[in-house]
Amino acid sequence: MLITGIGRLVTNDHELGPGLLGVVDGAAVVVDGDRVAWVGRSNAVPEAAGTRRLDVGGRCVLPGFVDAHTHLVFAGHRAAEFEARMAGATYDGGGITDTVERTRAASTEELTEGARRLAREALRSGTTTLEAKSGYGLTTHDERRLLDVAAAVESTDTPAIVRTFLGAHVVPLEFAGDADAYLQVVTGEMLDACAPLAQWCDVFCEPSVFDEPDARRVLTAGRERGLGLRLHANQLAHGPGAQLAAELGAASADHLTHLDDRDITALAERAVVATLLPAAEFSTRSPYAPARRLLDAGVEVALATDCNPGTSYTTSMPFVITLACTQLGLSPDEAVRAATVGGAAALRLYDAGRIAPGSRADLVVLDAPQPVHLAYRPGVDLINSVVRAGRVVHRKERRG
Ligand code: NIG
Ligand code: FE
Repeated sequence: MLITGIGRLVTNDHELGPGLLGVVDGAAVVVDGDRVAWVGRSNAVPEAAGTRRLDVGGRCVLPGFVDAHTHLVFAGHRAAEFEARMAGATYDGGGITDTVERTRAASTEELTEGARRLAREALRSGTTTLEAKSGYGLTTHDERRLLDVAAAVESTDTPAIVRTFLGAHVVPLEFAGDADAYLQVVTGEMLDACAPLAQWCDVFCEPSVFDEPDARRVLTAGRERGLGLRLHANQLAHGPGAQLAAELGAASADHLTHLDDRDITALAERAVVATLLPAAEFSTRSPYAPARRLLDAGVEVALATDCNPGTSYTTSMPFVITLACTQLGLSPDEAVRAATVGGAAALRLYDAGRIAPGSRADLVVLDAPQPVHLAYRPGVDLINSVVRAGRVVHRKERRG
């Protein structure tokens, strides 16, 4: 397939174009199967470029978004908790057990239907790769069920799905007061059952949930089963999560709302990606993460939705890009980069988040001439079409 008429192309590849986004104006892209074969100016397209053409009429094209942090599989919603927060209540993670109860009671068909609906919603807003965590089952049977659902949901009309085990999300009610007994299950039979279905191990490392020794225990056990490491760190209060992420060489530390200078230096030194989730801060009326300080220290930043029924019930990466610019202080280019190749770095996916020869043919066509419009036109659906693995998988309906 030959994609022509690209007014502005974001490649995220410095060898292909200038600036943070590696921009090529007046561009064309040749796709071969599920990969990008060629990228360049439209007046230099190679002759054997194929017969299928997609003319995007001068629009902007960028890599599909890589949403590196979601809790995709759950039952029910927590709208009442949101209403209580809007009336002044504070988020403390307590509502997680409500979703656990609903999720355990739901059939696998219901869970699959819900996760598929959200995955398709994400695709229509431009996400072509999405990480999905377990964490609302909290028994060996249910955690495994959620990972099975995440695997079953992936299809050609959803984003590619990367799975993460989050058995240590909270201590479930039946283990109240005995975190140690619960962690024995998590680090034993639960990980044995779940590790074959996941690539990553996560933990909600927070002084009020799982403190440093607990989180270390979970992550070490995950690593012994061959899983890569990522953490919910420093979300509700300052704590040991960011330091632990650096010490253990985690791929990503997520949230990072409360950081001191030592934390930032440690993340930079160990090349831990900072995955920022401003939609969670927005929906919980929390302070925003110190994104500028992280970027200025040389930390690679990713943006993700944190899609979940408690703190951030959105699948929209364009919304997250808007928040990153207006609330976190990122430039529009930095935000677009963090939402694409930044997310890919957080998941250690070196062929995603870029449009370059050999990369995945995952592309978004915007109803706009430049990527800045994603932030500049908040709340407006600018996703004209989405190409995933070389196929057009979404096209906006024409109205009027
Ligand atoms: O990333 N912090 C822990 N987990 C989620 C919230 C889960 C929930 O409230 O249901 C988060 O914000
Ligand atoms: Fe989360």
